[in-house]
Amino acid sequence: MDRNKRDNNSQKDYSQMRFGQNDVLKGAASRYRRRKISRSGIAVILCSVLFIAVIAASLWHLGTRIVDEAAAKLNYEEVETLFAPEDKTPPPELFDKISVDSSASVKGDLILVNYQYPYAFPETEDHLVNIYDNKTDNYGVSYSNYLLDGHVLSVLNSVTGELFEVTGDKCVLIRSAYRSLADQQSIYDSYLADPNYGEQYVNDYVATPGYSEHHTGLAFDINIRLADGSYVLVRDYENLNTLSSILVSHGFVQRYEDAKSNITKIKNEPWHYRYVGIPHSYVMTKEHYCLEEYVEYLRALWEGVNTDSDVDAEVGTMLHVDAAGEISTCTEDTLPSEGYLIYYVKKSDEVKTEVKIPKSAKSYTVSGDNAGGFIVTVTLSEVTLPELKTLP
Ligand code: DAL
Ligand code: ZN
Repeated sequence: MDRNKRDNNSQKDYSQMRFGQNDVLKGAASRYRRRKISRSGIAVILCSVLFIAVIAASLWHLGTRIVDEAAAKLNYEEVETLFAPEDKTPPPELFDKISVDSSASVKGDLILVNYQYPYAFPETEDHLVNIYDNKTDNYGVSYSNYLLDGHVLSVLNSVTGELFEVTGDKCVLIRSAYRSLADQQSIYDSYLADPNYGEQYVNDYVATPGYSEHHTGLAFDINIRLADGSYVLVRDYENLNTLSSILVSHGFVQRYEDAKSNITKIKNEPWHYRYVGIPHSYVMTKEHYCLEEYVEYLRALWEGVNTDSDVDAEVGTMLHVDAAGEISTCTEDTLPSEGYLIYYVKKSDEVKTEVKIPKSAKSYTVSGDNAGGFIVTVTLSEVTLPELKTLP
């Protein structure tokens, strides 16, 4: 009984135990499953969080960098634009100021002497030298007492020397040079009185005394005398183009041409040359300006930026001749560094006229124009201008 009871109990216990075991197993399995899901979920979540965090951090870093850079740039520009202190440093002065006697506007290599502008004879004419005593044997002079400006004579010596080197010719004969007022009066009167010439010739070819370029000592007339002693007209000289090119390259221009006679009031004179200097002879010849037109052109460039009443006139538009011989215009803001500058300055009503000269000038000259102004020639660098063929 006890045994049965015990067995029953045992059985019962078994069954309970089995039940209990199953229950425990189920519970354990259930807990096990719950624990297993929970860990993988956490791992996934952790991984996801980590991944998202890394991406977010990267984007944040990138974003802040872009924003920072944009902000920095913006700030820089804003600060630059809005808060930079105004630069009170004046721009560097490119020009020096010199003053010349206003009365000197009637003197110099570029003075205009024509029917409109008489020559202002200086008190002493010590710039004149005797040609015969100072010339070379590469050319002749028809009278031993002829005079020329000393510098012009030395240039004439160079011209005729070069002509001899190139052509072997010594045929230039100076047949007229400096003329005093009395000289011009005598010439004028004798042509007028000569029935072969008369009033028409005088009107076409002879300047009124006081209004002749010959007074300046800067002009001369030539003849061509061949080796056998015969003469040919200048226009018929076989090497005229060579002679003319050499003259231009040394600062001379043929002053009177038919094409300009309505301006100069003098007919074609292939024998009359006038010294104006380099680079003016080059510019005038290349641009086909007679001296009247040239002075007028330079004055017009000045008037383009100034008025007559300007007290402190600006440097006007300047002519620039570069090393290749190209001619252009420039201003103070576009100052070149080589070649020549040419510009006009109006004569002041005061005793002195202020003239501005570029600090970069290697050398300069200031010539009067004898028409109320000055012409400044600045050498920025020594250049040899191309040879010009002066005749077609
Ligand atoms: N033949 C020139 C124009 C003069 O007489 O000056
Ligand atoms: Zn002459």
